[in-house]
Amino acid sequence: CKFHPGMRGVLTVEGAGGGVAPERPTFDQPLVVPPTRRGAEIRLVMRRALVRTLPDGPRTSMWTYDGTYPGPTIRRRGGRGTRVTIVNRLPREAGSMSTHLHGDHHASQHDGQPTTYLIRPGASRTYDYPLTVDGRAEPGSFFWYHDHRMDRTARNNWRGLQGMFIVTDPPLSGVRLPTGDRDVPLMISERSFRADNQLTDPFADGPEMVGHHGQMAWVGPQAPPDDATVGDTVLVNGRYAPYLDVTATRHRLRLLNSSPFSSYNLTFSDGRPFLQVGTGSGLLPKAVVRTSVLLGPGQRADVVVDFGGATGQRVVLESVPAKPGTTGDDARETAVMEFRVGDRARDPSRLPSRLPSPALVSPVPSKVSKTWTFGLHDEEHHGSFWSINGKAFDPGRVDHRARLGTVERWRFRNTSDVTHYVHIHAEQWRTLLRDGQAPPPWERGLEDTWRLEPGEEVEVAARFTDYTGPFMIHCHMLDHEDHGMMARFDVVP
Ligand code: C2O
Ligand code: CU
Repeated sequence: CKFHPGMRGVLTVEGAGGGVAPERPTFDQPLVVPPTRRGAEIRLVMRRALVRTLPDGPRTSMWTYDGTYPGPTIRRRGGRGTRVTIVNRLPREAGSMSTHLHGDHHASQHDGQPTTYLIRPGASRTYDYPLTVDGRAEPGSFFWYHDHRMDRTARNNWRGLQGMFIVTDPPLSGVRLPTGDRDVPLMISERSFRADNQLTDPFADGPEMVGHHGQMAWVGPQAPPDDATVGDTVLVNGRYAPYLDVTATRHRLRLLNSSPFSSYNLTFSDGRPFLQVGTGSGLLPKAVVRTSVLLGPGQRADVVVDFGGATGQRVVLESVPAKPGTTGDDARETAVMEFRVGDRARDPSRLPSRLPSPALVSPVPSKVSKTWTFGLHDEEHHGSFWSINGKAFDPGRVDHRARLGTVERWRFRNTSDVTHYVHIHAEQWRTLLRDGQAPPPWERGLEDTWRLEPGEEVEVAARFTDYTGPFMIHCHMLDHEDHGMMARFDVVP
């Protein structure tokens, strides 16, 4: 069965038994890898462009970085300073923008702040990324850039302002990860489309903020706790249900979930394992074999998949919710993309189980210096907002001060009854404890975005280096972020 316009975007159908079964798409369009930029000076123009997203019918009008969705993939070796100039040529009514390089370590004024250092309509801003930490080159990482404007992040990302940024590995002793066209960045992100292939606008009648900073609440449609920008069509590198021709060799897949809200529990249709080698923030100390990889909004995984022995087969990457009552049961059920496995080829990759991962901060303080409680603040008469430590985001309020050069130990708690994905700017962190236990093996590298289930507690540590000024901590479910679940911490001299 071909892609039915009438069924567009509907990825689940009623099964015979009344349950919901995934509709298997036919994978009619090739995967597109976004254009690559490698220079020290990069210029990206934010502008409206027509983008091929669905296999049939008109292209989709999106807000893009330089005419493509995702925007160009920037690839730079760690330690090589990179300046990215973003020009705002979006329609005036889009307003001011702010571009954040998620995962990178850079100065506060280059962080893509939600309310300051904005890129006004018609203007531009140059972001300076030295790609160093404390005088040393940043380790190989898989970052991404996206809009971060206060109250509008979900809308601006939905419209298309997202792209990938790869800090390439220095020569690694004893390890050869797949390279070239066997190193594939995959941005997974969902949207909903109207019959004319244009994006729906879940924000048209968005909730309105009432009250003032520190005591605000959102009322109206999609106000907390029902705000969830869930799309019905999953795109990979901007295209619905693409396929990729691969040789029967190992491939490195850099998986990113850039959806506003949904999480995916990724598996292969034939049970083929993932060898997870990194978090997106650097290599893991040891490669981990996994049959499913759960990714929430903002999270990445660096995995190697071996297609050896599968010549002639079609392997589908899909998201299957975990068993009810277990971690990942809230992931959505959907097909993602297809790999068409061709002939064998020479495979020079080499993967020992121990990897040269970046050093983790040590020693760590035994005392927690800051607890961040993620919750829902409900007011009977004034509506509700997502909160951190009982407060809605206020860009003028400093919620914590961390001293430059010191190591801090932070704790996250979730007192609400839904899962959140906690993201911290400025530094890469070591995960110390998850619910009082050592973290799972895939959480033992550097990290910047954590899953936090209801009732869970996670403790992390990092050293604050190089830069002072305001930075953000927030939930990466963009509706939650826009509706209060963000806080500001300042690194002080
Ligand atoms: Cu990916 Cu503060 O964001
Ligand atoms: Cu959240």
